[in-house]
Amino acid sequence: MNLKEKNIIVIGGSSGIGKAVAQLAFDLGASVTLTSRNLDRAEKVAREIDSSITGCQLDIDNENQVQDFFHLLSEIDHVYIAAGATKLGPITESTLEDNMLAFNTRILGSLRVVRAVYSKMNDLGSVIFTGGVSTDRPISGAWVSGLATSTAEQLARVLVMEFPNIRFNAVAPGYTDTPMWDSIMGENRLNILSNIAETLPVKKIATAEEVASAVTFLMSNKSITGEVIHIDGGGRLV
Ligand SMILES: NC(=O)c1ccc[n+]([C@@H]2O[C@H](COP(=O)([O-])OP(=O)(O)OC[C@H]3O[C@@H](n4cnc5c(N)ncnc54)[C@H](OP(=O)(O)O)[C@@H]3O)[C@@H](O)[C@H]2O)c1
Repeated sequence: MNLKEKNIIVIGGSSGIGKAVAQLAFDLGASVTLTSRNLDRAEKVAREIDSSITGCQLDIDNENQVQDFFHLLSEIDHVYIAAGATKLGPITESTLEDNMLAFNTRILGSLRVVRAVYSKMNDLGSVIFTGGVSTDRPISGAWVSGLATSTAEQLARVLVMEFPNIRFNAVAPGYTDTPMWDSIMGENRLNILSNIAETLPVKKIATAEEVASAVTFLMSNKSITGEVIHIDGGGRLV
């Protein structure tokens, strides 16, 4: 894989899978910009990878921020959207509006990015969304995630027909060991993840680097569009 001199934007590149994508894209020769909702965090992570990486503030829940961010950019080759969070809880609790915040970030946020970036993209560049294993294996209490992952994966198909000069794809990670699980699983994270690993055909949890290698593969292969790659250790089959 070679991403030499490609301009790559990682939305939600301050942590986990997005951070691993920024690192791998840089290792493969790309010019990388990564974002976080917090400027200090974006700049810190960018510096950790290399002084040539740009770290920027961006909240994709905010239409004006998305427009302003892309207004300053041009000649973009690839965009990876990691930005997202998981909301857990019964469907009957909290308000629907609160429950749907996580869905809105992933789906409306992704659409905001597409609307702001499409005219700035080089031919056969790509936008890659993040789905997940809960599309095929819904988990009790994680219904918002299941709706968000399946819609993110479907975005990769419907948008192909809207912008034929741009490729759209998605990655669908299974349980992946990232900081996202710290707040959800707390200090039991390692135990819970290792129990989940035992249920998988490959007997291991995915790493952020493994998901990142699927993202950079989708960026570099110009004949792949409308595709979803599962990085779930066979989790959707058991
Ligand atoms: N880890 C898993 O097991 C797993 C499995 C399937 C799917 N996924 C999905 O994969 C994606 C990445 O997950 P991860 O595990 O790498 O999570 P993570 O470590 O928590 O990283 C999430 C990233 O999204 C950014 N972000 C969150 N909300 C944002 C917003 N409104 N605007 C812009 N950036 C925002 C965060 O940036 P700041 O907080 O710095 O702003 C951070 O960089 C998520 O969509 C997640 O749901 C994860």
